[in-house]
Amino acid sequence: MKIWAHRGCSQRYPENTLLAFEKAAKLDGLTGIELDIQLTKDGELVVIHDEKVDRTTEGTGYVKDYSLSEIKRLHIYADVNPSQQIPAMEEVLDLLADRMREGLKINIELKNSVFPYEGMEEKIVELIGRYGLQKSIVYSSFYAISLEKLREIEPQAQIGILDTKVSDCLYKVKGGCGAKALHPYWRGIDLSPEKLVGYSVRAYFSGHLYPEKPTGTLLDLEALEKQGITDVFLNEPERYL
Ligand code: G3P
Ligand code: CA
Repeated sequence: MKIWAHRGCSQRYPENTLLAFEKAAKLDGLTGIELDIQLTKDGELVVIHDEKVDRTTEGTGYVKDYSLSEIKRLHIYADVNPSQQIPAMEEVLDLLADRMREGLKINIELKNSVFPYEGMEEKIVELIGRYGLQKSIVYSSFYAISLEKLREIEPQAQIGILDTKVSDCLYKVKGGCGAKALHPYWRGIDLSPEKLVGYSVRAYFSGHLYPEKPTGTLLDLEALEKQGITDVFLNEPERYL
């Protein structure tokens, strides 16, 4: 089973922050880090899960209504290490580029199914190209049209399609989104493992705190593997490595 840090080491550190990514990058055996991108009103790529800043910072309103300099003034809520801010995607690459050149992958989830941010695909492809890190990136989105666009811009891009059920991921693949990997919800494996052969099947979990088990109970990764899941996105990868 391949293990990814979901929004960084987001169980113990604030999600989608440089701190959570730095902690993840230090883990031996980690396949990669998953993170989410949105676009500011001045067209900058920032790393934050929600369309709004309300849940994770003291601010209110949509990311798309903040400029980069305005959004950088906000603080991420945290009991410890309260100095974290919403990172620009570029800051994350500055932090992780060396580890990525050693093999660490990044799954960039384009959060564009609520607001189909104009130009997001071009911007992220250009940025990754500038760092020469194309081979270290898996792009994903729930929004299949965005992935089609991304593949037109960057034909070699590695793409994973998100949906709740794995059958719906495959449906979108057949629709031409260009994904070679399926990113379903872990309880959405509604096809037999034989039908999933040849795909990376990377399962995500729900809620902020993972795994969805009583504290102290570990997920049974062997059972997930038997269902055809090849990778898992975990908030607490350090417990499994
Ligand atoms: O990419 C897998 C997973 O992160 C999708 O759900 O809501 O955590 O972004 P969410
Ligand atoms: Ca995500």
